[in-house]
Amino acid sequence: MSLSMAIDMFSLSLSVLIAITLALLLANYKSSISKNKKKLPPGQMGLPWIGETIDFIKAQKKNRLYEDFIQARIQKHGKTFKTRLMGYPTVVVNGAEANKFFLSNEFKLVVSSWPSSSVQLMGENSIMEKQGDAHRCLRGIVATSLSSSGLEGLVPRICQTIGTHLEKYWNGGEKVISLYSLTKVLTFTIVLECLLGIEVKPGMLDLFERVLEGVFATPVNFPGSKFSRAKSARKEIENVLVDIIRRKRKEMEKRKEKGGEEEGILLSRLVGALIRGEISEVEVVDNVVLLVFAAHDTTSFAIAMTFRMLANHPNCCSVLEKEHNDILSCKGPEETLTYEDTKKMNYTWQVARESMRIFPPIFGSFRKAIDDIEYDGYTIPKGWKVLWTAYGTHYDEEYFEDPLSFNPDRFEDPIQPYAFVPFGGGPRLCAGYQLAKLNILIFVHYVVTRYNWSLVSPDEPITIDPFHSLLKECPLEFPQSCHDTM
Ligand code: HEM
Repeated sequence: MSLSMAIDMFSLSLSVLIAITLALLLANYKSSISKNKKKLPPGQMGLPWIGETIDFIKAQKKNRLYEDFIQARIQKHGKTFKTRLMGYPTVVVNGAEANKFFLSNEFKLVVSSWPSSSVQLMGENSIMEKQGDAHRCLRGIVATSLSSSGLEGLVPRICQTIGTHLEKYWNGGEKVISLYSLTKVLTFTIVLECLLGIEVKPGMLDLFERVLEGVFATPVNFPGSKFSRAKSARKEIENVLVDIIRRKRKEMEKRKEKGGEEEGILLSRLVGALIRGEISEVEVVDNVVLLVFAAHDTTSFAIAMTFRMLANHPNCCSVLEKEHNDILSCKGPEETLTYEDTKKMNYTWQVARESMRIFPPIFGSFRKAIDDIEYDGYTIPKGWKVLWTAYGTHYDEEYFEDPLSFNPDRFEDPIQPYAFVPFGGGPRLCAGYQLAKLNILIFVHYVVTRYNWSLVSPDEPITIDPFHSLLKECPLEFPQSCHDTM
């Protein structure tokens, strides 16, 4: 090759290189211009990293998240505003339209986004962490047992469990019992024994409660910290569950060899999917843990709030009692409730829904934008968090007239879609909604038809920890010495 040819080649390569560099610079410049053009929602990001987290948690602890945090910012900035929570830039969205947009665009524009401590303790393989096809597969398995037809057969078992629970804890002769703590024991037993088919052994509830205490703690594994105690409790639960799952697997494989049918109970469905190779053992463990957590604290809080509202609204209580006495009067002395009976408890469900409207057991949850999202005239950048809350519609008079007053009759008329969202919506709509409903209705039935009760402190303060609500005790009193009036 001559010297001049070499020089030509060199200058050609140099020009190509310069052209590529210029093109890249231009593209970068264009994208930064378009990024600058994005209109972010209004709002304050607060201090570096910590943002407005302290105000958020303070408001939540006092059970004034709406009044002190959300409402104040809606008034200042509008229904869509930005803030920074727990290190993340976050857009808080409010209103039925926002709920519909973000909840129904799960997997397309947003994905559910839980704190790292929750993911580590609930398990990375639980349904709440799954997306797309993996989510659909697990949801299919879980939903079969939790659908109306799946639950119909569970009604006698739930009635029996509630009967045994009342006999053991309510008929002991005490004048005052703690409604909230006891319903936690009950809902734990219902999800484990009735739904999953796992016998509750002594100490199990304590182990689960220890995990729950760490779910929103800082995820640092210092010996003695809340998180590390929760982690070791989770390990113990895992060991117990692996044992149960392996025994179940052997039992089912033996039965299959003999040509027997698969049982319909949820643990058997999960283990059936494990045998068919659709899910792994760790997925079975993580989803059993998740179901217990998703079910027991939420349902017990909803029950406690229903009784609080009944205690504070004696007229509603009388209407509700009549509904249950009418059902009871059509039954023989030994007859238990049926699924058909629960369908007659319309007013009770109105009362429970109105209680969950005012006191949602889960205040809302976080999503993460998987792309830049255009919403309400603003851009929510990819990677930012989005927080939807039940309060954003439940306390808005656009959807609920005189929103702070307790009025179960408002549920006689249809409610605008995505305005009443204690169970969320879209592809992640609560999978256990029907079970929670049955649990609440049947429990209320047994209590109001058997006991003469009143609440010791009907206005007991409620504190929130930060994603689930806590009551200290919700003490319930039996004004007459005899509890059981039947
Ligand atoms: C009053 C009681 C309950 C309330 C208020 C409640 C509320 C919720 C809410 C708001 C969500 C959606 C969270 C989100 O969008 O990020 C959810 C999801 C879920 N709930 Fe419930 N829940 C209750 C009872 C139950 C019960 C009894 C079970 C099962 C036995 C259950 C199982 C689930 C599951 C598995 C999910 C995750 C669904 C998914 O990611 O596809 N829940 N619940």
